[in-house]
Amino acid sequence: MPVTAIVGAQWGDEGKGRIIDYLAQQADVVIRFQGGDNAGHTVINEFGKHALHLVPSGIFNPNTRNIIGTGCVVNPASLLQEMASLEAAGVSLDNLWISSRAQMVMPYHRILDELEEKARGKDTIGTTKRGIGPAYADKAARSGLRMGDLLQPDWLEARLDNALRTINQKLQLLGGHPIDGQELYAQLMAYRSKLGHRIIDTVPMLRRALADNDAILLEGQLGVMRDLDWGIYPYVTSSNPTAAFAPSGAGLPACAIDRVIGVVKAYSTAVGDGPFPTELHDEIGEKLREHGHEYGATTGRPRRCGWFDGVAIRYAAWLNGMTGLAITKLDVLDHFETLKICIGYQLPSGEIITDSMPDTPLLYHVKPIYETWPGWLTDTSKIHHWNDLPSAAKAYLQRISELAGVKIDYVSVGPERDQMFVVA
Ligand code: GDP
Ligand code: IMO
Ligand code: MG
Repeated sequence: MPVTAIVGAQWGDEGKGRIIDYLAQQADVVIRFQGGDNAGHTVINEFGKHALHLVPSGIFNPNTRNIIGTGCVVNPASLLQEMASLEAAGVSLDNLWISSRAQMVMPYHRILDELEEKARGKDTIGTTKRGIGPAYADKAARSGLRMGDLLQPDWLEARLDNALRTINQKLQLLGGHPIDGQELYAQLMAYRSKLGHRIIDTVPMLRRALADNDAILLEGQLGVMRDLDWGIYPYVTSSNPTAAFAPSGAGLPACAIDRVIGVVKAYSTAVGDGPFPTELHDEIGEKLREHGHEYGATTGRPRRCGWFDGVAIRYAAWLNGMTGLAITKLDVLDHFETLKICIGYQLPSGEIITDSMPDTPLLYHVKPIYETWPGWLTDTSKIHHWNDLPSAAKAYLQRISELAGVKIDYVSVGPERDQMFVVA
């Protein structure tokens, strides 16, 4: 598996972290290609339970080089906190690297995220308030600071000065307080002393890895339904979780990708605002939340739950060019007598859509068309082979694969590292 992109196929929290931790046992390099500490990638293994926010999920394999890629936005304070918690659990950080071209999330980005959400009144996006949107906005506006700037103090000081001229006006406009440049500069210098030796130009490292035919995993954050361009705009994140953006965010040529694994939860969840056609507002939704422990790994917010959405998966599979699926949380469905799968959306005009996602304003008004499937009411959490799955579970999974038009490569039946198997 020379270069494999692992992407979220739904609204995020599909179980990317656990899949990457599993695959990273055989990987030479893992690169996060977008997003920031809005991510919460849960990994459970011999080091305990960790919700990773910025550190790539290959960190538990000491032989794997873990890179926070150029497409990411990095909050140094939050990264240092995460590193301390991993170190306390005995995880080696010797192989953790940060692209010098990755953008920095500054303290004022978090403040702006709060203030901008407040200014939206009732039309909030429901962001994680980690400053992600404002940091990517500054990147596009060319007023961002990059991790590599920490290594060039004079340049850093001038860039900070330049950025604060507009940032402080914006903060005041939105009811915030201006930032003291000198104080912030001193804080950045402290980050430099703690992180400086990990900040690298990733190109030589990745050129070598490709030349050596190393196994490289590209770790996505969130999922296609919250992609800046292809998701439910404006209820999206400010970067692109789809596979097409993976090589650029990671720092590889586009043609380098060999496989794209779409991580798919066996039902649907979302955190944050926006349309979510298969959402269940009843006791079934509640039951999915309780059995699936569907609470945000970053913010602790209860996740919205619903039936599996076959339209969203067809869209995600096509857009991402998925070569295989990793289906997670099958065990959560062990407790349901019957299950539903959405296979189409009916528009108010009566038209039925199966092959694309209607745009956001229309998506609020679609009526999901469901198929009903028998449940299996059997504990699947200790199963290690496809053939041992109850026939109803196999049929349900096969229907997902058929709707996606993509084969199943992995099935996960629990959060622990060994609760997963390869489908031959
Ligand atoms: P990510 O952001 O895509 O990495 O996913 P999260 O970590 O935010 O959410 C997935 C949650 O489901 C975590 O709490 C995982 O420990 C858990 N999980 C992952 N796979 C499985 C599975 O197959 N079964 C069960 N029951 N839990 C799982
Ligand atoms: P992982 O990587 C689920 C959602 C937020 C909000 C929208 C924009 O763990 O799957 P942002 O803070 O990015 O500006 O918020 O995106 N969101 C996530 N939802 N999992 C995540 O990450 C998320 N990261 C952001 O709830 O709707
Ligand atoms: Mg998550």
